[in-house]
Amino acid sequence: MRVLGIETSCDETGIAVYDSEKGLIANELFSQIPIHAQYGGVVPELASRDHIRIALPLIEKALQQAHLSKQQIDGIAYTAGPGLIGALLVGATIGRSLGFALDVPTLGVHHMEAHLLAPMLENNPPSYPFLALIVSGGHTLLIRVSSFGDYDVLGESLDDAAGEAFDKTAHLLGLSYPGGPALAKLAEKGNEKRFHFPRPMLKRPGLDFSFSGLKTAVVNVAKKTTLDEQTKANIAIAFQEAVVDLLTIKCQRAIKQTGLRRLVIAGGVSANLRLREKLKQLMHQLEGELFYPRLEFCTDNGAMIAYTGCQRLMRGEKDDLEIKARARWSLNELSTVVIHT
Ligand code: KG4
Ligand code: ZN
Repeated sequence: MRVLGIETSCDETGIAVYDSEKGLIANELFSQIPIHAQYGGVVPELASRDHIRIALPLIEKALQQAHLSKQQIDGIAYTAGPGLIGALLVGATIGRSLGFALDVPTLGVHHMEAHLLAPMLENNPPSYPFLALIVSGGHTLLIRVSSFGDYDVLGESLDDAAGEAFDKTAHLLGLSYPGGPALAKLAEKGNEKRFHFPRPMLKRPGLDFSFSGLKTAVVNVAKKTTLDEQTKANIAIAFQEAVVDLLTIKCQRAIKQTGLRRLVIAGGVSANLRLREKLKQLMHQLEGELFYPRLEFCTDNGAMIAYTGCQRLMRGEKDDLEIKARARWSLNELSTVVIHT
């Protein structure tokens, strides 16, 4: 089955074609970073307008890359949520209408399920069951993945998401949007001994996260200090260490609690090399294994949507003619996979 995937939930237009036999056969991405950078963050209205401008030409480009005509597509998957509603509606309208015109099954995909399954696009994919840490700009989730479509959220952030904490701290340090990668780069020049930030929620049992206390601690230090380049780098590394520590300790707890020995990390923050290094060490110690997507599939992309859609469409799932888009959509609400025989 050949599935066209359309991702427009935030500031990236991602289009891909996944073939259930050949794997990924086309992948195109158009980043809106230059559009939003001047505002220091994503401007939803500008995001929607740019998806409208880019999505159709990018679909043509992806089909050319796959050497396919539209008529050779067997199914369509688009991101139905969670995300920015205007941006989602662009992909949903295009995806659903194209599915109707081509008379192929169409499905609205959950963006976080797609992130979670992105490592399945790699050569050495994890087998089920596994533990997943999803760290993106809008979510921080620890999930027990028993099998495809069977997810149990064990912990989540009670306030900011990990990526959001990176972005806000980066903004405070005067770094350009998107803040996460810029902060990680600055941290390379920092002295990690100069500052020490709290690791919120560690004293409490459980697997939930909180990042707002850490953010306040950084604000307080920044207010009292002259922010020269070296000081900014010292703050960046201390902040990154605190986030990475916090995520690592919670993963360790979840592994102990579930007995699982395979850990998957995905979502934008899983591109952070320090986080990967720390979690690799942890899994080595525990005689387990760490799985993550290649860097370009950590952040938003069409490939993960095409893959996830293909898995569900092949199991017989499809939407009716409704154009589906939900700004908020908990992974717990996601229907378990129904197998039609
Ligand atoms: O998954 P994603 O592309 O979009 C959402 O679904 O939210 O994640 C974007 C987030 C942003 O907050 C960005 O700053 C963060 O991922 N990010 C990073 C790195 N690369 C992206 N955070 C820390 N270190 C990185 N290298
Ligand atoms: Zn995302």
